[in-house]
Amino acid sequence: MPVITNIDDLKRLYKRRVPKMFYDYAETGSWSEQTFRENTSDFDKLYFRQRVAVDMTNRTTATQLIGQDVAMPVALAPVGLTGMQHADGEIKAARAAEKFGVPYTLSTLSICSIEDVAEHTTKPFWFQVYTLKDNDFMQRLFDRARAAGCSAIVITLDLQVQGQRHKDLKNGLSAPPKLTAKSIANMMTKVQWGLGMLGTKRRFFGNVIGHAKGVSDPASLSSWTAEAFDHALDWDRVRELIKMWGGKVILKGVMDVEDAKMAANVGADAIVVSNHGGRQLDGTISSIRALPAIVDAVGDKVEIHLDSGIRSGQDVLKAVAMGAKGVMIGRAFVYGLGAMGEAGVTSALEVIHKELDTSMALCGHRDINEVDRDILFVPEDFEGRWS
Ligand code: FNR
Repeated sequence: MPVITNIDDLKRLYKRRVPKMFYDYAETGSWSEQTFRENTSDFDKLYFRQRVAVDMTNRTTATQLIGQDVAMPVALAPVGLTGMQHADGEIKAARAAEKFGVPYTLSTLSICSIEDVAEHTTKPFWFQVYTLKDNDFMQRLFDRARAAGCSAIVITLDLQVQGQRHKDLKNGLSAPPKLTAKSIANMMTKVQWGLGMLGTKRRFFGNVIGHAKGVSDPASLSSWTAEAFDHALDWDRVRELIKMWGGKVILKGVMDVEDAKMAANVGADAIVVSNHGGRQLDGTISSIRALPAIVDAVGDKVEIHLDSGIRSGQDVLKAVAMGAKGVMIGRAFVYGLGAMGEAGVTSALEVIHKELDTSMALCGHRDINEVDRDILFVPEDFEGRWS
């Protein structure tokens, strides 16, 4: 068993174990990847204020996200095709999250279905939906999520149209995949991954195939994905979806103060300040830069979460200090999953927790709920404010 001390260790192992096309799928951003890069590098521009001789006993990172108890202010982000990173990936990740005491978010575009994940877990998870044109399908997704006991719906708002990732096009990663000879040759070298895939029946989009109109098999997926996303999405539609669900709602993909105000007005329980991990609008600012203005504008009206670029507990602490109630992690858990399955996701959560707890203590705090901006040095030109 390799010694894992940080998320980069998991990433290195992940790169070795998972076929290149799925590694590339996660480890990329859209177009020039500027936003993808800055999501992580901008965290390095924030500095901690070290404090000493402060009682650091009895520390806690426990808090609440949308009223639910969590062991630390971290949730697993929705990640499509998680079940291609590791056999039964969504089930493995959900189980690790459940054991650790943090929420898991299942993507609509997952390999394991809502029912699959519910059957293999004991606590409620969150379910993410894209805004799709087919209202009957949306209604059925909500019904299925309700029947599975999901405790919140995450509505992703930043994928009305899709950003382009060059590597995915070159690797033939589409729905369904168009495997190139190179990809197939590469897959053959990933023995553990391949054995896992041969040993599971879950290899296609479990929430869509057999559920969406006209999608009875993987071959019919491509016409569905080309047509499915609702380009006409507006705030009235968001209101309708919130009403249709009738439970807790998190709106994901908000980067602008005006949009954050609309999100608070339509009655979201939380918003996620997110640029989709740099996979959508390349050239926009990092999420951590966008956060402060949004916190100032609506922080007293709606709970604010952040994702994009979190790779350590230090990043979590910085996001919380800048005003986020919690964060979502995407790639950080995917690295763990691809590296070592469920144990790898647990390892990613342990690494992040340890870093968060220790850094919080060294900043002179014992309780994550008391952390504020006082622990940070923020450069004058850091914040992304448009006016
Ligand atoms: C995503 N993301 C995403 N978001 C979403 O709402 N539904 C989805 O199906 C997916 N799929 C997906 C696949 C992969 C491979 C990645 C890396 C990301 C975005 C995700 O929820 C989250 O916003 C980002 O991953 C956060 O950035 P970091 O933590 O990966 O830097």
